Amino acid sequence: MSESRAESQKVAMVTGALGGIGTAICEKLLAKGYHVIATLSKEDPERTKKWCDDNGFDSSRFEFLAVDLSDHETAMANIQKTIDKYDNIYALINGAGITRDSSFKKMSFEQWKQVIDTNLTSLYTIVHPVFVKMLAQKEGRVVNISSINGLRGQYGQTNYSAAKAGIIGFTKALAYEGATSSVTANVVAPGYTYTPMVETVPEHIMNKIKETIPMNRLAGANEIAATCMYLISDEAIFVTGETISVNGGQYMS
Ligand SMILES: NC(=O)c1ccc[n+]([C@@H]2O[C@H](COP(=O)([O-])OP(=O)(O)OC[C@H]3O[C@@H](n4cnc5c(N)ncnc54)[C@H](OP(=O)(O)O)[C@@H]3O)[C@@H](O)[C@H]2O)c1
Repeated sequence: MSESRAESQKVAMVTGALGGIGTAICEKLLAKGYHVIATLSKEDPERTKKWCDDNGFDSSRFEFLAVDLSDHETAMANIQKTIDKYDNIYALINGAGITRDSSFKKMSFEQWKQVIDTNLTSLYTIVHPVFVKMLAQKEGRVVNISSINGLRGQYGQTNYSAAKAGIIGFTKALAYEGATSSVTANVVAPGYTYTPMVETVPEHIMNKIKETIPMNRLAGANEIAATCMYLISDEAIFVTGETISVNGGQYMS
């Protein structure tokens, strides 16, 4: 199906936009003609310029918004100011996230709190103002990025698994509240995905990881991005409250 003219003028917001998966999402949004509000954790014009240059992105298609999503009050005020400039925010894709791995026995409260604040509590900060706007618009798409480890748990990741599982419950509840206003909310749950971070893992460890994946490889960031794009497409209007795993068969829930 060809995309409607309106779709080529839509605005999408992406958190963690300069990260591995975020970059792949931005590339696909630009290809579909979106204007992108891209969040990063700190103001850094040199970094955003280099990111655009490295990826061949036209910087005029972006508004960069520096917000530390774990700093609720400051972030929420800046998000509100930014979205007020736009008549319509069609899609919000939340990719911001961190890990602070440790066995639970050794985990500090700080490691717990940083991960819950950045991966889960941040959803209040970013989704609340945008969702209120989407309800008023009577259209919108929210896509939250969870993880295979939010579905199955993982040794050393009680904090991350709790946050990523929490994202799924949050999204299902949000889907109920958005449904009558044509606002959908869904989750993408990636398995191990090639990002700059993963490229630093030694080859012998990577080979061990691959052995646990039926397709014997990691996901490409573009494959995670493609699933996000499906969920914001016209074709996905009746899909809400769902979690789509993109993990090569590593975990089938
Ligand atoms: N890669 C994988 O194997 C994998 C697997 C499953 C799920 N995921 C999930 O997919 C998402 C993207 O992962 P990725 O691999 O692309 O990781 P990444 O490259 O590290 O990107 C994560 C982004 O989160 C942003 N972020 C971190 N703390 C923040 C804060 N306090 N405020 C605002 N932004 C913050 C970072 O922004 P700055 O760079 O501006 O600091 C970063 O760009 C994450 O939610 C991750 O948990 C990844």
